[in-house]
Amino acid sequence: MSVHDDDKLGLLLSNRLEQLSSPTSISSLEYDLNAGVPDSESLPLEALRRAFDEVLSVNPKQALTYDTPNFGFEPLKQAVIETVAKTLGGIDESWVSLVSGSAHGLDNIAATFVDEGDVILVGAPTYPGAIRTFTSRGAKLISVDQDEYGFSAVGLDAALTSGAAAKLKIKAAYLIPNYDNPSSTLMPLERREALIEVAKRHEILLIEDGAYAGIDLSGPPPASLFQLAQGRGVVYCGTFSKTIATGLRSGYILASPSITKALKFMRFDNASSSLVQQAIHNFFTSDEYPEHLEKIRKIYRGRRDVVTEALDKYCKSFVTFSEPQGGFFHWLTLREGLSATEVREVAALQGVAISPGRGYYLGDHVEQESRVRIVFSALDEVSLVQAIKLLGKSLEIISK
Ligand SMILES: Cc1ncc(COP(=O)(O)O)c(C=O)c1O
Repeated sequence: MSVHDDDKLGLLLSNRLEQLSSPTSISSLEYDLNAGVPDSESLPLEALRRAFDEVLSVNPKQALTYDTPNFGFEPLKQAVIETVAKTLGGIDESWVSLVSGSAHGLDNIAATFVDEGDVILVGAPTYPGAIRTFTSRGAKLISVDQDEYGFSAVGLDAALTSGAAAKLKIKAAYLIPNYDNPSSTLMPLERREALIEVAKRHEILLIEDGAYAGIDLSGPPPASLFQLAQGRGVVYCGTFSKTIATGLRSGYILASPSITKALKFMRFDNASSSLVQQAIHNFFTSDEYPEHLEKIRKIYRGRRDVVTEALDKYCKSFVTFSEPQGGFFHWLTLREGLSATEVREVAALQGVAISPGRGYYLGDHVEQESRVRIVFSALDEVSLVQAIKLLGKSLEIISK
């Protein structure tokens, strides 16, 4: 084979490509309720322009150089500790690494903990990006059912007990306690405490994904697992994507200093962008940031409310759901007999893109055909109402 023959190069691809499902994409349909992206109109454009200008005027050399000694701009690490872990004593920069978004953070965590065949427990349902990342690092995934409070502690205990009996090497459980993607569940305090107790007893790591932290639409959430466990046995992965901008590709991992050291050792990216971290620091620590956060919460609260109302008006006889307390999604349960795959097909003909449940489960799961995720964050209120009206029409067509 000539290595210049592109067709034959396909033979060199890793087998892992076949193990992974496709990533989600932006739809070209008129109403995209599929892509879980933030509102583009409220991006803090002016504030970021000033923040980047300031970095390039004041600190250009440091901002435009590899930051491999520290793996992250120290003042931003401090600011992250102040906001995310301020109630914990004894936490300093040695607990923080700055990464290129939480997608990179999850990959860094997997690279650091997973040996081929190790098991990571994930929710049923869970975030498809985590399924892809962990699988691509050689992990075997086993799911634990979610209920209305999120990842089940009883389910975790049962999975760990049967896993131990089967001599599986279960290393971690991955969960999204605040406004889960896709189920939008907000885990109550007692569930968080129960999960920490179970994980501690079975000596596994909890990987806490805080991607939607801050998008609080009905008051503040309980303390994070990381806070409750005083940072012991929990690795917290956070991001600036949902509260500032996805294109910054910037996030952070909070973990004990020994884990943080291992995470840095397992990075081969010459550190994330120092320029971006310094600009984020300028904005994140300014008086404008809390105002920005309030502004986007107000927008998302309004959108959540109109979607809740529109679902009640146009889709009531076909779906049930719990109102999300934060985040970006409504997670619908279809009436018996309706299929999510069919809803997607018929809604697409009406110009509406939705995500059927299938992508959020490992393999076949009884729930996958009866669940649908719809996104309220990206479209304006008028478009959302129109989209839900068309979704209702699609459900009516299928029900006939
Ligand atoms: C639960 C969850 N974790 C992580 C991510 C990755 O986000 P980012 O890499 O932009 O921080 C997403 C993005 O949608 C998400 O929904």
